[in-house]
Amino acid sequence: MTSDDLSGLKSEWAASIEGASSLAALEDIRVALLGKKGRVTELMKSLGTMLPEARKERGAALNILKDGIAALIETRQAHLAVGALQEKLAQESVDVTLSARPQSEGRIHPTTQTLEEIITIFASMGFSVAKGPDIETDYYCFEALNFPPDHPARQMQDTFFMPPKDGKPMVLRTQTSAVQIRTMETQKPPIRIIVPGRTYRCDYDQTHTPMFHQFEGLVIDETTHMGHLKGCLLDFLRSFFGIEDLPVRFRPSFFPFTEPSAEIDMGCSRKGGTLKLGNYGDWLEIGGCGMVHPNVLRNCNIDPDKYQGFAFGMGIERMAMLKYGIPDLRTFFESDMRWLKHYGFLPMDTPNPALRA
Ligand code: DAH
Repeated sequence: MTSDDLSGLKSEWAASIEGASSLAALEDIRVALLGKKGRVTELMKSLGTMLPEARKERGAALNILKDGIAALIETRQAHLAVGALQEKLAQESVDVTLSARPQSEGRIHPTTQTLEEIITIFASMGFSVAKGPDIETDYYCFEALNFPPDHPARQMQDTFFMPPKDGKPMVLRTQTSAVQIRTMETQKPPIRIIVPGRTYRCDYDQTHTPMFHQFEGLVIDETTHMGHLKGCLLDFLRSFFGIEDLPVRFRPSFFPFTEPSAEIDMGCSRKGGTLKLGNYGDWLEIGGCGMVHPNVLRNCNIDPDKYQGFAFGMGIERMAMLKYGIPDLRTFFESDMRWLKHYGFLPMDTPNPALRA
């Protein structure tokens, strides 16, 4: 077979490649020519029987033929693929008038929801939001709040101790009260803040988790007194729980950073094993509060003879559990989607206390 024969074959095969009307037909041609038993492959095999000189020349010609055929197939393939896509696009169409399929919607976590409700109410009373770090110095978390190093009040707030930083002992903060100090160090009175945030303690049972959220309140001014504290918390709790005549009681207690200190109790009923908030004669504790201790003011360079104020702290999940009837604190942090679907809130469907009459 001469080179002329090869060029004859090439134009014959080129015509059939050009004539292939579908990708499948083209593939058949490719196999028939370049496949294991294809025509070009057979020609290549015949090289083995030739004398070296002739084989060299023939081999080169066959390689050119093979590459040429492969290139033609590739070009045709690209052309047919575009055609196939266009045909598919022409056949398939999107009906934009179809109504949307119901989507599974995300939920707002009860902690976030409750926090937003709390902030909304306090914002309406003129409070602003302050924040502080989760990893806190022992000084801000305890010492500046009038907990001396070996004070037994620290026992109640056992926490996670971190490696010291710049020689200062560090803890995962046990209370958002730490931000009282940070705020009073950097702001001059009048101060009116609430501090939402994560807090940590070595606890784990139905009503305790190693991490939970608290919010702190702090008001400092020249004429602030206990009556303001009581009125502020009474208004807040009635508004938050949506119970107009919710009784609120202040029971004497002890916190190192307040004097006098009180536990905040709300009226409730426990009849039949179910807890119900309202004017029913029984009491349930919801947080702590008091008048800021003069030592705390002094630690922040605020003159206790000129300024005074009150502080309070509550657990955000505890508020959520009471308001929305969630029985176990641990479930808040298990990331169980079924739980979230049940207790979570739809973004456009949240009870907004600011809109309440
Ligand atoms: N920090 C206290 C705790 O976690 C709660 C608390 C009590 C905060 C009294 C206050 C307060 O601001 O005045 O147990």
